[in-house]
Amino acid sequence: MKRGLFITFEGADGCGKTTQLELLKKYLDKLNIKNILTREPGATELGVELRKILLHYDKPVSDVAESFLYLADRAQHVQFEIKPALEKGYVVLCDRYIDSTVSYQGFSRGQDIDTLNKLNEIATSKLKPDLTIVFDIDSEIAQKRLGNVKDRLEKEGIEFHKKLRYGYLELAKKEPERIKVINADDTIENIQKKVIDIVKDYIK
Ligand code: TYD
Repeated sequence: MKRGLFITFEGADGCGKTTQLELLKKYLDKLNIKNILTREPGATELGVELRKILLHYDKPVSDVAESFLYLADRAQHVQFEIKPALEKGYVVLCDRYIDSTVSYQGFSRGQDIDTLNKLNEIATSKLKPDLTIVFDIDSEIAQKRLGNVKDRLEKEGIEFHKKLRYGYLELAKKEPERIKVINADDTIENIQKKVIDIVKDYIK
């Protein structure tokens, strides 16, 4: 099956990855490379409903329920958006994917990582990104960037976010071929250059 290229961006809240995804999209557009920009949670109609619950539900949510909600969003996203686009040869740029679940629900919340890996496989029919870029930043700096209006996950304390950063770096160590780490405590222009340097090798 001829397929496009699947690139995901990962990192803590406030790491700047969304800005970088938009810049990468513009870069691909200029080169006339067909692409879509998507995100988790909330890219499908069902996902929009799940996103409201995940980010704004104001009563206690069980850790297991939280994991399943993200996984449900992902299953819908893969089947109806990501796979069809890859089959049509698109570059799919996705803001968060499987590594968010392992880092947030696994490393930070303490859910079993092997189990989450298996659940991710089920949710995605084993579809892995060709390339994942992790935007690494000091947790305190990232928290400051967020300001005062925070969603349910962003409101978690500094320890949660430190574990998250550690989790992403561990994942990158385990899969250095797929996961590249960029220092996100830099100017937008410098980070963009680093992103393009990495992506160039994949779109040749
Ligand atoms: P969003 O506003 O999209 O944040 P960001 O712009 O930082 O990506 O909110 C998504 C939140 O959901 C974010 O705090 C990370 C969290 N999340 C998980 O905990 N697990 C997951 O599997 C995914 C996809 C996201």
